[in-house]
Amino acid sequence: HPLRILAISGSLRQSSSNTTLMNAIIGLAPHSMTFTTYTSLNDLPHFNPDLDTDNGPLSVQHLRTQLDGADGVLICSPEYGNGVPGALKNALDWIVSSGEFVNKPTAVITASPSPMGGNYANASLLLTLEMINAQVSQQMSLTIPHIALKLSKDGTITDLTLKQHLKSILHALQQACY
Ligand code: FNR
Repeated sequence: HPLRILAISGSLRQSSSNTTLMNAIIGLAPHSMTFTTYTSLNDLPHFNPDLDTDNGPLSVQHLRTQLDGADGVLICSPEYGNGVPGALKNALDWIVSSGEFVNKPTAVITASPSPMGGNYANASLLLTLEMINAQVSQQMSLTIPHIALKLSKDGTITDLTLKQHLKSILHALQQACY
């Protein structure tokens, strides 16, 4: 079957560069990869083990079902305060106990207008994903500095080196999913 990839943006912002980038990456992918975008980060309650029961919140069940049905995951996220955006970390916290990330190939991309590219958030995401036994690798992670100079608002990747790099990440993700 064609690979099913769940794409998650860590930004809730309407004109998010990371969401725009995520959609541009989807546009670069081969037909053998199909994408579903998860757009419900904002629906999840704050992680609370007391709510983490068999009949827990519907939004959490939905996230878990979406992940369960995916062969791989693509995460595009900003960095806030040198860390992972709370909304995204919250979603990952809901998966620690249920295990849908176990052995799941996961590409981790952070983009920022700063010269650092969200490197702290990227490293932190990898730490969390490793803890929940997702399959992560250097070939599938990237920090992108100066994103505003490389991606136009309409979603065109104007930096050809970046475009190639993103294609190679998609290739690595595809290989990891088989
Ligand atoms: C930021 N930004 C930011 N950038 C970064 O590289 N490291 C950081 O620690 C932070 N911290 C931070 C805190 C707050 C409160 C804001 C509003 C912004 C800048 C951030 O990268 C920029 O706003 C991006 O455009 C956010 O990503 P999206 O929403 O465009 O995907």
